[in-house]
Amino acid sequence: MYEINLNTKTALIFGFSNHRSIAWHTANKLYLAGATIIFSVYGEKMKKNLLKTTADWNYTPEIIECDVSSDDDIHSLFTKIEKSNQKIDMLVHSIAMADKNELGGDYLSLSREGFKLAMDISAYSFVALCNGARNIMNNDSSIITYTFQASEKVFPGYNVMGTAKAALEHEVRQIAFTLGESNIRVNAISAGPLDTISSRVIQGYKNMKSAASERSPLKRNITLEEVANSALFLLSDMSSGITGETLHVDSGYNIMGI
Ligand SMILES: NC(=O)c1ccc[n+]([C@@H]2O[C@H](COP(=O)([O-])OP(=O)(O)OC[C@H]3O[C@@H](n4cnc5c(N)ncnc54)[C@H](O)[C@@H]3O)[C@@H](O)[C@H]2O)c1
Repeated sequence: MYEINLNTKTALIFGFSNHRSIAWHTANKLYLAGATIIFSVYGEKMKKNLLKTTADWNYTPEIIECDVSSDDDIHSLFTKIEKSNQKIDMLVHSIAMADKNELGGDYLSLSREGFKLAMDISAYSFVALCNGARNIMNNDSSIITYTFQASEKVFPGYNVMGTAKAALEHEVRQIAFTLGESNIRVNAISAGPLDTISSRVIQGYKNMKSAASERSPLKRNITLEEVANSALFLLSDMSSGITGETLHVDSGYNIMGI
C-alpha cells in the first residue's frame, strides 16, 4: 500500500489561532504523515493555545512569534531558523485580516486604511514570507496559501477581502514562476466556507454556507478534514507536476452558473 510519508520533511506553518483554524488541521495532517512542524503565531496568547492543542503530540513543536505586518519580525523569524541550520520543505500561509467594518455593506465606502490593512496582511504577507523562506527551502519544496472564491465572483459581504484574495491568487502564479527554477512549487487552495474565527465576522457568511450546501454538485459543505487532505496532497510529492494552480476544495460550488 502506498502512503504519503513526510518523515524527513519539515513544515513551517503560519496562521494558527485555535483548534478550528485551517492552519491547525493542516499542521496536524502533516504531523500524522510524519513531518516536523515549526509554527509561527501572532501573539503570546496563540502560543499558549497552541501548546495546549499539541499536548498529545510526541514532541513539543518549535513556536516562533511573528506579526507579518512587521518586516523586522519576518527577518528575525527567518534568521532564527537559518541560524539553527534548519531547512524547510513545506511552507503554509494561512493568514488573513481586515477591519470587520469593511467586511459588509457598501463596497464603495471602503476606506484607504481598510484597503491597505487587508492587502498588507492578507496578500503582501505571502510575498514577504515566500521571499524570506526561499533561502532556507530545500529543492523540491512546496508552498501553499488559502484563498476564497470571492476573488473571482461577487460574494456580498466579503468585499475588500475578495480584492485581497484576487491579489493573492495572482501572487501564487507570479511566485510559482519565480521559484520554479529552484523546483519550489506554489499553489493555492480555494476553500468553501468553514466555521473559523475569521469567517464568522464576514457579513453574509451564513448565506454563503447555505448557498454552497444547497447549490454545489455535492449538495453539502466541505469539512476542515477535506481541506487538510488537499493540503497534504499539494505539499507532498504526489502533486509534483502542479504549480501556480488554485485548487477549489468547495464541493464543486465554483462550477455552477446558478
Ligand atoms: N474559514 C473559511 O471559510 C475560509 C475559506 C476560504 C479561505 N479561508 C482562508 O484561510 C486562511 C485561514 O483562515 P481561518 O479561517 O483558518 O481563520 P483563523 O482566524 O483561524 O486564521 C487566520 C490567522 O491569521 C492570523 N493573522 C492575522 N493577522 C496576522 C498578523 N498581522 N501576523 C500574523 N498572523 C496574523 C491570525 O493570527 C490567525 O491565526 C485565511 O487566509 C482565510 O481567508 C478561510
